[in-house]
Amino acid sequence: MKLSIAIMAAGLGTRMKSNKPKVLHEISGFEMLYHIIKEAQKISDDVHVILYHQASLVQEKMNRYFSGLHYHLQDHQNFPGTGGAIRNVTPKYEHLLVLSGDMPLLESAHMQNFTHFNADIVMSTFTCKEPLGYGRVIMDEACNVQRIVEEKDASVEEKKVTSVNAGVYLFKTSFLNENLSKLTNHNAQKEYYITDLIPLAKEVKALFVDEETFMGVNSKHHLSIAEELMQERIKRRFMEQGVLMRLPSTIYIEADVEIVGESILENGVTLLKGSRIENSHIKAHSIVEKSVIKDSDIGPMARIRPECLIEKTHIGNFVEVKKSTLKGVKAGHLSYLGDASIDEGTNIGCGTITCNYDGKGKYQTIIGKNVFVGSDTQLVAPLIINDDVIIASGTTVTKDIPKGSLAINRAPLKIVEGFFYKFFGKKDV
Ligand code: UD1
Ligand code: MG
Repeated sequence: MKLSIAIMAAGLGTRMKSNKPKVLHEISGFEMLYHIIKEAQKISDDVHVILYHQASLVQEKMNRYFSGLHYHLQDHQNFPGTGGAIRNVTPKYEHLLVLSGDMPLLESAHMQNFTHFNADIVMSTFTCKEPLGYGRVIMDEACNVQRIVEEKDASVEEKKVTSVNAGVYLFKTSFLNENLSKLTNHNAQKEYYITDLIPLAKEVKALFVDEETFMGVNSKHHLSIAEELMQERIKRRFMEQGVLMRLPSTIYIEADVEIVGESILENGVTLLKGSRIENSHIKAHSIVEKSVIKDSDIGPMARIRPECLIEKTHIGNFVEVKKSTLKGVKAGHLSYLGDASIDEGTNIGCGTITCNYDGKGKYQTIIGKNVFVGSDTQLVAPLIINDDVIIASGTTVTKDIPKGSLAINRAPLKIVEGFFYKFFGKKDV
């Protein structure tokens, strides 16, 4: 079945108590609206997004990821509510799937399930112990859906109903064309409710769905629950593909991260957007952001900042690397390597710092093969250190070093015997 899809994202999201539009709140590194649009585009080439609240900001953010979307501005003044949201949508196909921008856990396979039925409306429902905030589904004795009553309009008896409206609907386009204009706003919120279309349909089918997958995020508490569910899903997929994780509940992985081969992630690891981990061991409490790590071990407590390529390399504790390429390198402890390129066989001693910034610009440090950088070295960029060089511990390197040399700029060590006793006075033994 060819489908058009409408994603409602125009609501004010007041329950989020935020200046940021609800649908732009992020889960696993990406806006809630991003997640659902991405899934919708997998099954439809006719995706409509309905905006109103901070519409230009939402549209601008989504344009960074997607093309070919149809944006509509809801006439919120005259037609507020979910029924008002879809008024101006003009579906290309005979069926329109309506989704909400606050359902970040919905995947294309779940969307596809609606197409197995043929009715004016296929609606979705689940049963929950605490139906707070959801519309209640009122059924007759034969379990046919009769209507949906919003919590704010429900009587005490209706509030006890535990079958709720999950908020996703598949409509026949012809049904919508005939009936959308019949909606009224005679309810507690003075809004046009999409749910009021149900009593107008000849045939309504109910699809029983999973509460967690279909959860609607209305508050920051919901947002945290949705994020945990998505994290579980992301990590489970990787573990099934052979990634080993220690205490996975303490690991955070953003939605577009790739992990391949037999990688190991220890507890507390954070993998941020745009990262790729290949056959590597990321040790406890390390952070990797927008970088590629291949055949390497990182950490514990290392920070790999954006735009690094780290291959066949050992990075130890308290090492920070930024915008650098390291191939076949050892940097075991306490270093800052920024805007650097470091080649095979090179050892970076403890406490090495690339001084890449002079307050105005950033400069490159290029280090060749088999270089031994002694501990506590400062490399003042721009700088080229050629192959087979030894830099003595404690050196401040300010000039390029030719192949095969030693660089050392230590002040001579002076020893003054007996000075301690002269200074503090001789203690009685
Ligand atoms: C809605 C349903 C409720 C269901 C719940 C499931 C209605 C009237 N109620 O309630 O039965 O149980 O979802 O999560 O539909 N929106 C607009 N324009 C508006 C108002 C809302 O585009 O004028 C969008 C919002 O941005 C949001 C979605 O529609 O993405 C749902 O709105 P929300 O306010 O979250 O509705 P609920 O109260 O959750
Ligand atoms: Mg909602």
